[in-house]
Amino acid sequence: MSHIVVLGAGVIGLSSALQIQSQGHQVTIIARDFPGPFETVDPRLQIDYTSPWGGAHNRWVPPTNATEEREHAMALRTFARMRELCRNYPAAGITFMPGIEYLEAPSPAYQELNAEKAKILGMEGFRLLKPAELPDDKVKMGFEYNSWCVNPMVYCSFLLRRFGYLGGKVVKKEVRSPVEIFEMRESGRVDAVINASGIGFGDPDVFITRGQTCLVANLCPATVTRQNADGSWSFSVPRNFDGGTIIGGTKEPNNWDPNPSPEVRAALLQNFAGTYPQILAKDNEYQVIADIVGRRPTRKNGMRLEKELTGDGKCIIHAYGPGGRGYELSWGVSEAVAGLLSGHLGLASQNQRPKL
Ligand SMILES: Cc1cc2nc3c(=O)[nH]c(=O)nc-3n(C[C@H](O)[C@H](O)[C@H](O)COP(=O)(O)OP(=O)(O)OC[C@H]3O[C@@H](n4cnc5c(N)ncnc54)[C@H](O)[C@@H]3O)c2cc1C
Ligand SMILES: *[C@@H]1O[C@H](CO)[C@@H](O)[C@H](O)[C@H]1NC(C)=O
Ligand SMILES: *[C@@H]1O[C@H](CO)[C@@H](O)[C@H](O)[C@H]1NC(C)=O
Repeated sequence: MSHIVVLGAGVIGLSSALQIQSQGHQVTIIARDFPGPFETVDPRLQIDYTSPWGGAHNRWVPPTNATEEREHAMALRTFARMRELCRNYPAAGITFMPGIEYLEAPSPAYQELNAEKAKILGMEGFRLLKPAELPDDKVKMGFEYNSWCVNPMVYCSFLLRRFGYLGGKVVKKEVRSPVEIFEMRESGRVDAVINASGIGFGDPDVFITRGQTCLVANLCPATVTRQNADGSWSFSVPRNFDGGTIIGGTKEPNNWDPNPSPEVRAALLQNFAGTYPQILAKDNEYQVIADIVGRRPTRKNGMRLEKELTGDGKCIIHAYGPGGRGYELSWGVSEAVAGLLSGHLGLASQNQRPKL
């Protein structure tokens, strides 16, 4: 049995840890931050732990290049795994619901979307909306499909609980580099480290994309996304499980401001109600719970998913930089990580076999 250490307890580290564990390895998760009740996550001290601040929903993106093709394939795998988990574990924090999209200026890839194309892409329940179903004249295209949302801390706590139940160990610790883990006494013998450290330690290709959203108590029956012609967004992500609904949101590369802006909050709430008045149907006003600022761990040209040998047979498998899609891609990423790991362990055991 190999011993694998996963660095990071965000959605990427937790899913990867479970996937590797299912292959029969002993797994330890080492992280500075672990999931806990959302109400207790500190917005200042834990702003760089992105997983609590995500929506989080699945939104299909019609792929236009190799990076997006890879992500789409991982999103499809995640969709299938979420369906299975939702069925088998009703308390996992997952809800399936309609995903509705409105576009003011659809790019060619969106313009080409139709039932046939959507079927090829695996977008279940796809339907183009009729002009009368669009919210206003500025919206040129609309469609819906079946999608899922998670309540992030309910879902991540569920993953952690499964991991512990199946024999996984955890260590709460900040490390200076994944390489340090090979030397730590707590770790024992380590065959490989999975680097799922989110924003992490200064890969020059990694940057943050700030997102401000507002959590409200109002219920929303669908996850709705509007892409405006000026590049701004308006969306809702129902969290359910008493988690309220996220109303978003901004996407601001390299903005490190941790403070929510009241003006932005007012604009987000007003824009969303303009697009989807049903959000106010029951109460006629918003019940605001909290402002949220998060930092999406974004990487130029997509996630880093690769094996690195650092000498002495030490193996690090990188799994970081999912940007705004960490939940959507999580199970696809975990399967890729597990694949890289089996490849490595297979090679390592061949090399260790005594020569005849
Ligand atoms: C406003 C907003 C909305 C979003 N909406 C969605 C959405 O709808 N759908 C979606 O899929 N995604 C969404 N995202 C993105 C998603 O939240 C992220 O992609 C995801 O949470 C990243 O997970 P991660 O595991 O890579 O990183 P993190 O959650 O940041 O986890 C990193 C882990 O590494 C640990 N770590 C880091 N450095 C060290 C160290 N030195 N020592 C020890 N431990 C360390 C941390 O403690 C933590 O456990 C959204 C994000 C934001 C901000
Ligand atoms: C681990 O991941 C981080 C990003 O989170 C990256 O900056 C760092 O270079 C990686 N560590 C090593 C040893 O490569
Ligand atoms: C892929 O396409 C997206 C959307 O057009 C773009 O943002 C991204 O930079 C492209 N990536 C590559 C590697 O070309």
